Amino acid sequence: MNQAALHHLLISKEGIKGAHTTEELFKLRLATNLSLIKTLFFSLYPESSENQIHFHNLLDSMEHLFGIRPDELKKLDLERIKQGNWYQNERLVGMQLYVDRFNKDLNGLVDRLSYLEDLGINFLHIMPITTRPSGESDGGYAVNNYHEIDPKFGTKDDFLALTALARSKNIFLMLDFVVNHTSDEFSWAKKAKAGEEKYQGYYHTYTDRIIPEEFEKTLPEIFPESAPGSFTHVPEMDKWVMTCFNNYQWDLNYTNPEVFIEMLGNLVKMANMGVDVVRFDALAFLWKKLGTISQNLPQAHELISLFRLCLQVIAPGVILLAEAIVAPRNIIKYFGEGILEGNECEVAYNASLMALLWNSIATKQTSLLYKSLMEIPTKPNDATWINYIRCHDDIGLGYDDEFIRDMGWNPSAHRKFLLDYYCQGLEWSPARGLIFMYNPKNGDGRITGSAASLLGLEKALEEKDKVAIDLSIAKILMLHGIILSYGGIPMIYMGDELGTLNDYSFRTNAAHKNDSRWVNRPVQDWKVVDKLKSKKNHSFKIYSGLKKLIQLRKKLPLLADNNNLTLHPSSNSQVFVFERTSDSGSLWIISNFDKAPQFLDVAWLFSIGISFGSDPKDLISKKKLVLEEGRLKLDPYQQMWVALG
Ligand code: GLC
Repeated sequence: MNQAALHHLLISKEGIKGAHTTEELFKLRLATNLSLIKTLFFSLYPESSENQIHFHNLLDSMEHLFGIRPDELKKLDLERIKQGNWYQNERLVGMQLYVDRFNKDLNGLVDRLSYLEDLGINFLHIMPITTRPSGESDGGYAVNNYHEIDPKFGTKDDFLALTALARSKNIFLMLDFVVNHTSDEFSWAKKAKAGEEKYQGYYHTYTDRIIPEEFEKTLPEIFPESAPGSFTHVPEMDKWVMTCFNNYQWDLNYTNPEVFIEMLGNLVKMANMGVDVVRFDALAFLWKKLGTISQNLPQAHELISLFRLCLQVIAPGVILLAEAIVAPRNIIKYFGEGILEGNECEVAYNASLMALLWNSIATKQTSLLYKSLMEIPTKPNDATWINYIRCHDDIGLGYDDEFIRDMGWNPSAHRKFLLDYYCQGLEWSPARGLIFMYNPKNGDGRITGSAASLLGLEKALEEKDKVAIDLSIAKILMLHGIILSYGGIPMIYMGDELGTLNDYSFRTNAAHKNDSRWVNRPVQDWKVVDKLKSKKNHSFKIYSGLKKLIQLRKKLPLLADNNNLTLHPSSNSQVFVFERTSDSGSLWIISNFDKAPQFLDVAWLFSIGISFGSDPKDLISKKKLVLEEGRLKLDPYQQMWVALG
């Protein structure tokens, strides 16, 4: 049962009459969801007397986990349910940040919360803060413990104080749940290494290379340069363990029901610290099967749904974000399909939009963008996206080959062009990115770099080229304008609000030098922030431009995500136009992806509803639209948010 249906039940007479206390409501939720929970559990763990016992353990554990959820959060859960789909609201604007790189530690974050509030941020994705190995740790995505705060960020009390403060200010918090793997220092991994068979069974462990080699025939390599293969030999236990990511990240074995039950406990205990949104990290990988790529398998969906339903019974105010950076038609499945619709994740990364926008910047063409977006099936009404341009990871070029061919381009040549454009392979390109995980076997590679450096600011500043600096600022604002208006939660990446450039210092850090994603994980420069008021430089222009767009977004209820988006391809393929509709009117977002001015014909504008008889106005410049010889002119990388007068 999804949030909306649950809400309906709770406010309906039947629901309310019989259930007054939070405990009674828990039982009501359990009763409502039990049948599907049971179906999914026994689909993953076929009926046997042993699995019956596990199922009863799961039910006991759910009751216990509800019992230890703080009362304040139990009340909040009910409020959230009554609020309906709060995550689709136009007032939400997010930022993703590393606590230590933002302002040293958790208390430092609290000290600078007013900076985020000034910008208009009210949703924070806080990158991993729990204990991790001291050397390489994949930025904390190798987890030593799901609840112990790493001392470098502060204490658990500091975190609890932050979550309480955020609640009081109506700021939502998102934390990662690294659900696919633990570090090799996690307590289970340590016990496995010490020879405890029970814990060796918590991971995919093998005595020889026979099965690992079978798996490796079809498993794609995630980090082919730094962690080739998908298994690691562990000398302490003389066994091979599955490690799809880095060799110190051990994949959990979810064919073992005990692993699921324990991980549910870890999930709820994390949520119980006051987390509103749980980012399910690398969830496409949860189920492994020989002969497949072991991503997006039906069992992975069942497992996620099982997590979701159990969480919904225990902590119904908490929602899930799918971190599935996979093909568009596969991403949408994480909202749940068939009986799982509304019972998987409420939110998913719009990785397709992100990657396509970078393609459009490089090609100055929007045709692939339109074609790919138009092929994505409509998402369920209760679901939403996280729209973003950059994050802590690389940009993958996961476009559909067929669509690239439809554009008249050769897929591998096109990808090579994009790598060259962004990663300094073309002298004329303004971008300054780095290539990530280049695989000479198939020519695949991904892109790293900060938004500003990829959009030309680094080079322009170095060359003191004022025109290029302004073009770069326009591009940065244009892309942010798209994520702020394209249905979903806009997630700004820390530093991008100031146009922060690449940080090359990772090259001299032993724990980071093999991972060029660190080039786009810079330390926040508070000197720049403190000068925002006095120095009207590029950072000021980006910060203030972004702040203005955020304020505008929050004033426009039609920007709440109600699946109210229409794409409008025109004969001008340099321009991207989409419309957000509502009963009381429409808003058209028009963006020029070219460094030359572009024009839209008045008759075409009329055909999509922009009638010049109705006094159309650009809400960004606050100017009325004017026609030049029957055409609307857009400056290089200009964006307009057009509403009728
Ligand atoms: C996710 C994270 C990424 C990490 C990976 C493995 O994709 O975003 O940074 O390397 O999971 O945990």
